[in-house]
Amino acid sequence: MDKLLSEAALRAREHAHAPYSGFKVGAALADITARVYTGSNVENSTYGLTVCAERVAIFKAISEGARKFVKIAVAADTENLTPPCGACRQILWEFCGDIEVILVNPRGKSETLRLKDLFPRPFDEKFLE
Ligand code: THU
Repeated sequence: MDKLLSEAALRAREHAHAPYSGFKVGAALADITARVYTGSNVENSTYGLTVCAERVAIFKAISEGARKFVKIAVAADTENLTPPCGACRQILWEFCGDIEVILVNPRGKSETLRLKDLFPRPFDEKFLE
């Protein structure tokens, strides 16, 4: 599963629209039924309207009715493996909770972390009760 998910993230990366930064990212999110939702970063000339690969994947999944997630793979071409940005960590926490996060590069280097370790002491809906 991890290998398939990593490969899906690497393939999704090829669809990145990153003419401004040149930094291509892919993501692949698996739900509990093993269905996989992919995303790539989609940049905009305003810069600020750019959406990261992780958020594209999760919003695709949510909008198609998926709700329970198991893990996400994030692919970028860096030796120091690229983790999700802060905004994506917040969104991932909201919809996925403490999932596994697999970081991978095209040369087969990878590392698996838990979102809780990447995003300690999160703000979430519990504060709104
Ligand atoms: N980016 C992602 O898509 N995901 C990450 O985890 C880090 C950053 C994108 C946003 C932007 O298009 C480019 O990478 C450079 O920041």
